[in-house]
Amino acid sequence: MQTVDPTAANSVHRNGHTPKEDSSLSPLTEAVHAGEARFRSHNSLTVPIVQTSTYTFDNTAELIDYVENHMFWDVPEREEYGRYGNPTVRAAEAKIAALDKAEDAVMVSSGMAAITNTMLILLSAGDHFIITEDCYRRTRAFCRTFLTRFGIECTTVRPGDYDAIEAAIQPNTRLIFSESPTNPFLRCLDYARLADIAQRHKVKTAVDTTFGTPMNVRPIEYGIDLVIHSVTKYLGGHNDLLAGCVVGNYSITTALRQAQGVMGAVVDPHCGYLILRGLKTLGLRMRQHNASGMAVARFLEDHPKVRRVWYPGLESHPDYEVAARTMQGFGGVISFEIDGDGPAASRFIDACRIPRIGPSLGGVESLIEQPSIISYYDTDPEVRLALGISDELVRLSLGIEETDDLIADLAQALESA
Ligand SMILES: Cc1ncc(COP(=O)(O)O)c(C=O)c1O
Repeated sequence: MQTVDPTAANSVHRNGHTPKEDSSLSPLTEAVHAGEARFRSHNSLTVPIVQTSTYTFDNTAELIDYVENHMFWDVPEREEYGRYGNPTVRAAEAKIAALDKAEDAVMVSSGMAAITNTMLILLSAGDHFIITEDCYRRTRAFCRTFLTRFGIECTTVRPGDYDAIEAAIQPNTRLIFSESPTNPFLRCLDYARLADIAQRHKVKTAVDTTFGTPMNVRPIEYGIDLVIHSVTKYLGGHNDLLAGCVVGNYSITTALRQAQGVMGAVVDPHCGYLILRGLKTLGLRMRQHNASGMAVARFLEDHPKVRRVWYPGLESHPDYEVAARTMQGFGGVISFEIDGDGPAASRFIDACRIPRIGPSLGGVESLIEQPSIISYYDTDPEVRLALGISDELVRLSLGIEETDDLIADLAQALESA
């Protein structure tokens, strides 16, 4: 845990975080304390919300010293302007960096901003990159409709096909971007294998581990360069904020901070505080998500009205072996097919009393959806079916409700399928 107060004036810190310090501590302890100083402004136990858009200088000499010695993307000893940094947000960044065992983390305004900013700083016109097929559909849309306009070429490969990934590498390939676990089929990456391929070809790797969280997966320990989170999901954890985070070495995060100062997708201080507050219970929440996930997945797998279940903790999942080796828990998202048609899946969903119908995942409230309706309603059915998104597919994001209550509710709702 770091010992500098990022909210105190004139504290010298690099994002308030000392990497790999106290690595013997459990992630549950780190989630509560890491990134925060032992002594804070006004002796507050919690990190104060520094609700300001700008920061003042006592006199012109102080301003000149700042301008001469600290560019805005530099490690600030003090803040200058809200788009370049905020102490409350820095504490949240430091906590996530500590949890991911990384040097640094940069917070941005949404998961999509984390993904788009990362691609924009790592890729230039004429570059090529590789993305795995079942990445979040908006990520794929960005690659397809935006990056191509700037002459950045993308090859899509099937997740789990490492030979195809290596074969797709060209002399101008700069990045391999993937997700793990993926949505909705929870495919899991062998991080060490991906990192080995990328390092041999001098290509950077970035993995979106929104569905995993640092409690369950820490790809940087396996040699992955960058980790991306939609903080909106498990890290925030309460379905009440939007944010994203990019985690990695200073060499890349410094460039990202520089880009952030120009592109401007910042998190406001109050949101920074909500993230910090959410992170404190991340360990506890993930224990419950993991426990319910495993129990509900087994319940569904044994149920006669369920045709197939995707959950990486089940032996039947295609990536069970990789997941069992690399994950501390398998999370709270389960995808399954009702043994019937689309309307049967809708009847089941409508009969659920605890999970609410809605997009998103990772919060304390359970959410349920039919991907064919909520995400792929306008997509050509042939394209959707080729991706495996059948009408009867259901995605369930378990909250932190009592496991037995959730199972009882699903059991009664399945009667309607
Ligand atoms: C895996 C994954 N990455 C990124 C995002 C985008 O995150 P946000 O909604 O915070 O922009 C999502 C959103 O659902 C997601 O599921």
